Amino acid sequence: MSLNWKEFNKRLAANALENGIPISGAFELTSRCNFKCKMCYVACPANDINAISMERSADEWIEMGKQARDAGLLYLILTGGEVFIRPDFQKIYEALCNMGLNLTIYTNASLITPEKARWIGSMPPSKLSVTVYGASPETYERITGSADGFNRTIQALDNLKAQNINLEIKTTVVEGNYRDYEQIYKIAHTYCDNLGIVNYISPRREGCGSDPMGNRLSSIDIVNYERYITEYGEKMRQKDKNVELKIGQDEMEQNNLFSDKVNKMLEESAFKCQAGKTGFWITWDGRLLPCGLLNEPVAKPFEIGFVNAWQQVREGCMRVPKCQECMECDVRSECMVCPGRLMTETGCFTKPASYLCESARYRASLKKQRVQAEPVKIAT
Ligand SMILES: C[S@@+](CC[C@H](N)C(=O)[O-])C[C@H]1O[C@@H](n2cnc3c(N)ncnc32)[C@H](O)[C@@H]1O
Ligand code: SF4
Ligand code: SF4
Ligand code: SF4
Repeated sequence: MSLNWKEFNKRLAANALENGIPISGAFELTSRCNFKCKMCYVACPANDINAISMERSADEWIEMGKQARDAGLLYLILTGGEVFIRPDFQKIYEALCNMGLNLTIYTNASLITPEKARWIGSMPPSKLSVTVYGASPETYERITGSADGFNRTIQALDNLKAQNINLEIKTTVVEGNYRDYEQIYKIAHTYCDNLGIVNYISPRREGCGSDPMGNRLSSIDIVNYERYITEYGEKMRQKDKNVELKIGQDEMEQNNLFSDKVNKMLEESAFKCQAGKTGFWITWDGRLLPCGLLNEPVAKPFEIGFVNAWQQVREGCMRVPKCQECMECDVRSECMVCPGRLMTETGCFTKPASYLCESARYRASLKKQRVQAEPVKIAT
């Protein structure tokens, strides 16, 4: 019997879930960055001596890659901070690539020189995901603190495209860049067929001086923005059917359809995503967590080994309680709620988060208005 890719991935994911295999993960290789985005949950300055001293070495990451691969890892995201700030990134990347892992790189692209683009082209990742923060030097200055970051990003995209790299473009929406949406859409369309929208801005996990909460759109404005970009996307798709829009993209959210047995396991867990079931995140300073938003449950893979750390975090995730109010909530289907977001918003897994509640209620009320406005169809 032959399987298509979708079916194959579905089976891989279901098998990983049933057997607790860490099939997808992220290595956050550094917290340092050449940009200083106002909403960043992690970034430290590029030359932060303290951060440099706490980073794991290339050899340590390579050894961690081997241990994770032997435990079943297949899909690995390399992220930061900015991975291209590490002089040894090439060494880490090549070693992980040679292990047969399916790699995705998250980057702001501004440090990718023509020479680096050629090197990536000689050993391409499965996907290179570039976040575009605006459509002009002015917006880049406002968000990232680097006006020339805009031109450097666009030049890098040109060079990467010339190397036929599989590109993805994302944008992270905040107060300072939501007006650039249509231009960002055009940029995405120039380099690839999809635009990912990061529409949930989490509070700061760590890092120096950023202010995500002070820069994100209000709980109402973010819903208006979602509605606006959806309508704009539909209008543009009538002109070009190839452009895909993914709102609320989350590297560990699950969109596969599973067997009944697996669905039951999902039902019992507070996590509806891969976090702590088949997915993990290792921070730049060596903590293994269910996902990049959380600080717990936590284990130390560089001290106790990947397999033991994964087991500890998996067990810790099984003990994470569900939020009762969320379970009984009438607008849950319109809410971005998850354990990671509840914890980061409220400091607790069992308390509803007002930002999420307000957005969900507003989304539900807009939906109701739309349904009421639509003419009733009578079957003939
Ligand atoms: C931390 S960055 C690291 C990779 C790279 N430097 C970049 O900017 O793409 C990874 C992604 O997280 C997004 N991001 C940053 N701060 C965020 C926050 N507070 N909430 C949600 N996403 C955030 C970024 O815009 C980017 O798309
Ligand atoms: S979001 Fe990315 S580019 Fe911006 S400061 Fe954070 S790590 Fe750097
Ligand atoms: S966060 Fe609020 S809106 Fe969302 S499911 Fe929980 S109670 Fe409902
Ligand atoms: S817990 Fe939430 S933020 Fe973390 S991976 Fe799952 S859906 Fe994403």
